[in-house]
Amino acid sequence: MPKFFRFQFGNCSSSVIIQKKLPRLEELYTLAGDTFEGNCLAVCDDHTLPLVRRMDGAVPVVALPPGESSKGWAAVETILRAAGKQGLGRDGLFIGAGGGVVCDLTAFAASVYMRGAALVLLPTTLLSMVDASIGGKTGFDLEGIKNLAGTFYPARGIVIAADFLKTLPEREWKSGMAELIKTAVLDGDSGFFDRLKKLPREAKGPGSFVPFIEEAVRIKGRIVERDPRETGTERVLLNLGHTFGHALETSLGLGTISHGEAVAWGMARSCELGTELGLTPPEWGEAVLGVLHVRGYETGVPFPLPLDPRLFRSALFSDKKKKNGTLRFVVPGAEGARLAGWNAQVETYLEKLISKISLSS
Ligand SMILES: NC(=O)c1ccc[n+]([C@@H]2O[C@H](COP(=O)([O-])OP(=O)(O)OC[C@H]3O[C@@H](n4cnc5c(N)ncnc54)[C@H](O)[C@@H]3O)[C@@H](O)[C@H]2O)c1
Repeated sequence: MPKFFRFQFGNCSSSVIIQKKLPRLEELYTLAGDTFEGNCLAVCDDHTLPLVRRMDGAVPVVALPPGESSKGWAAVETILRAAGKQGLGRDGLFIGAGGGVVCDLTAFAASVYMRGAALVLLPTTLLSMVDASIGGKTGFDLEGIKNLAGTFYPARGIVIAADFLKTLPEREWKSGMAELIKTAVLDGDSGFFDRLKKLPREAKGPGSFVPFIEEAVRIKGRIVERDPRETGTERVLLNLGHTFGHALETSLGLGTISHGEAVAWGMARSCELGTELGLTPPEWGEAVLGVLHVRGYETGVPFPLPLDPRLFRSALFSDKKKKNGTLRFVVPGAEGARLAGWNAQVETYLEKLISKISLSS
């Protein structure tokens, strides 16, 4: 049975349908709303093009080169030009069918095309189903910095079809699993974390993931409803593991490791920092680290790839989530994630971390 959610993000509402089967194009048109007049453009990448072709109905498609390295302005321009050629008006529809890269790029293009066109997302990776497609953040990378440019533009509809996962490569399962663990940790020492812990490592069937996807979508959607533009102290919690993770991802070179692998390493650092600050109960930090270990993530320092400590430091300190010029870190707490502001203990931890990285470089 499909599961429905309807979220209200500020003055935009977003419907999410979670089902097993691939949707028909007609269903996507319905989600696009009353203003849609029938002209649309599907955006995918070379790997998700066959999935778009498998859907019932014909649609003009633009396929981008896959991966984080194509998440730049050139791809945005390709999408906008294709939409123009296709004659999309303000009543047209953009359909983003792919992982987080395609979802973020398509959503950004839709947000600026004729000052905003209808958008429906079909996330095809576990990561984009549980995270990237939900909540309206769009963007692209610039100057080697992830998501340096972006907008808030929630999709009118998101169809999460578990059958898309049938072709997902092992590395991408692992990447998505990290964001799923993050969401469970955000929820604190709740049943979600325990259920996820018990999920056998070899479980890859789309069916066994549906309940976890549903739970993650519900948790993220409710957090974003309370703080749609990250102006408060709620949405920032979704960045658990991301400040350290983005610094790792950026300093290794975008695309060297997957987003999820970086977030997993970042969560391990957040557990250490939270424990040092007395905000993460040690046994809870160990439980989180235990799950990351079992799932095969690199959680140690040094990271087993050459890492330039200067690049790491500069990436860390240029984090976009700074408030009043200082870094903020999200750390796990037993009742959910918590925000830690800048203080001498944080500074000492960071200096220790960077010197460990320096010793190993
Ligand atoms: N907007 C947000 O709130 C948000 C949240 C989290 C992450 N993100 C972004 O998401 C991106 C990462 O997303 P991702 O991990 O999905 O990476 P991705 O989009 O690069 O996809 C990973 C790989 O899987 C392939 N692929 C996708 N679906 C497939 C399928 N069903 N079968 C076979 N291959 C498939 C893709 O072609 C690509 O090669 C990052 O750019 C990150 O910044 C955004």
